[in-house]
Amino acid sequence: MARHLITSAIPYINGIKHLGNLVGSQLPADLYARYLRGRGNEVLFLCATDEHGTPAELAAAKAGKPVAEYCAEMHEVQAGIAEGFRLSFDHFGRSSSPRNHALTQHFAGVLAEKGLIREVSETQMYSPTDGRYLPDRYIEGTCPNCGFDSARGDQCDNCTKQLDPVDLINPHSTISGATDLEMRETKHLYLCQSVMKTEIETWIDSKTDWPVLTTSIAKKWLNDGDGLQDRGITRDLDWGIPVKKGSEDWPGMEGKVFYVWFDAPIEYIACAQEWVDAGKGTDWARWWRTDKGAGDVTYTQFMGKDNVPFHTLTFPATILGSGEPWKLVDYIKSFNYLNYEGGQFSTSRGRGVFMDQALEVLPSDYWRWWLLSHAPESSDAEFTWENFQASVNKDLADVLGNFVSRVTKFCRSKFGEVVPEGGSYGAAEEALIAELSERVRRYEALMDAMEVRKSAQELRAIWAAGNEYLQSAAPWAVFKEDPAQAAAIVRLSLNLIRLYAALSAPFIPDTSAVLREALKLDSLDWPGDLPEALSALPAGSAFAVPENLFRKISDEEREDWQQRFSGKRD
Ligand code: MF3
Ligand code: ZN
Repeated sequence: MARHLITSAIPYINGIKHLGNLVGSQLPADLYARYLRGRGNEVLFLCATDEHGTPAELAAAKAGKPVAEYCAEMHEVQAGIAEGFRLSFDHFGRSSSPRNHALTQHFAGVLAEKGLIREVSETQMYSPTDGRYLPDRYIEGTCPNCGFDSARGDQCDNCTKQLDPVDLINPHSTISGATDLEMRETKHLYLCQSVMKTEIETWIDSKTDWPVLTTSIAKKWLNDGDGLQDRGITRDLDWGIPVKKGSEDWPGMEGKVFYVWFDAPIEYIACAQEWVDAGKGTDWARWWRTDKGAGDVTYTQFMGKDNVPFHTLTFPATILGSGEPWKLVDYIKSFNYLNYEGGQFSTSRGRGVFMDQALEVLPSDYWRWWLLSHAPESSDAEFTWENFQASVNKDLADVLGNFVSRVTKFCRSKFGEVVPEGGSYGAAEEALIAELSERVRRYEALMDAMEVRKSAQELRAIWAAGNEYLQSAAPWAVFKEDPAQAAAIVRLSLNLIRLYAALSAPFIPDTSAVLREALKLDSLDWPGDLPEALSALPAGSAFAVPENLFRKISDEEREDWQQRFSGKRD
């Protein structure tokens, strides 16, 4: 049994994420985790909320709540929605946990001991109007790299360049809009990443199997000399992890906290400790310390492309720089962006569908199927209601749903709710089994390679093959002349439903469970040998006709939703 550690980029605490965020990290990570578990691997799948930094402070201020209270509430909200989408995290942690505080301070202490942290006296943007420094998102202006006019102090959302607030052209405070900003002298800690450039470059160069999207972004940042400049890892904020050297105070750093991007990825590790604290596991080190057994763990990270520099350069610099035997990531699966109806999803303008709203409209499997089968892998992708309607109505209702309904209802009417006996398989059945053997092995290879879209296509083809078989075998016609032959066709078809339930579980887990229950099975084994898998339900086993699996989306509904999600979220 192989062991797989899987993490999804941890979503910011500030509000409910939209479907573009979901498909860029958490959902494909869940697909992979479910698949690997289904195939008998030992999986630890972790995610958390990213609770520090200016986004959290700003959102709490807007909600009129103390930050800690806001974060605690929003964590529960996000956990509930994750559950609604059936995201099967082994633990959903919090970057504000005591575990992450201790571990972040530990890393800072070790890095300082290794001479990889230096103190820098620098000028920072100070706003007299607001009476405070303006780090990161407290400041916006024009990007010096691409000219985008709402670049944030820490990163340009348009060109993904990492920025420093002082780089911005025409900066203003996002709290008050004030432009009368002053530069003030203050002391901060810098992580000396530049000295690790060769080490990190060698490591990235060794990852020849990584997706081009991941390595191209990593190389771009390495080579234009930008990504591995020494970076400030402290901030003048109230909310965050206090700057300490391990458990000791750090003279001169009183009142400062670590930068959110320093502590957030460390939460990947802390989350495993929280998982143990929550009584769900017994040994976190076995997943994270190569001196404690993590050497044979395969670690895969999922994230949107804007997160790639932090996971290929910054976080590895922390891990490698520590000189301690922490597990490094083995594979980084990154995603492009999902657009919405000819534009971008916009959290601030409430444009597009947000996770909570999606679940109000339709059950999670409908969304999971569309999002995963249209995952923005090789390029950006676009959500349109028309495409969504077509996919749901065709793939889910016409192909899978219809197959299940026809087979089970026909069987009930002619043979009762039990797998019928009699007859034997002929050429058509053998051909179908041969085709499916090939397709299932291809599906596995694609899932192993995390080719999300192509896996969905193969799964759809597997469903369609059953449908086509049923259509041409036509047991309803055969029954009149040769009931035994019709029984054989139905028996194979009922076994196909079992096969579909197992294969489809990573994509549409609820539907898979409905099918499993309809077949009165306690569990679903992943299919090995196909002829065997397709005779696993023997004649005589009982089933129940399930409720209609999927409903179709009407044109009126589609138009209604199009309208409803086009603008301001209420
Ligand atoms: N919160 C970040 C985002 O949504 C992702 C953080 S991932 C981690 O873009 F590395 F920090 F953990
Ligand atoms: Zn830019």
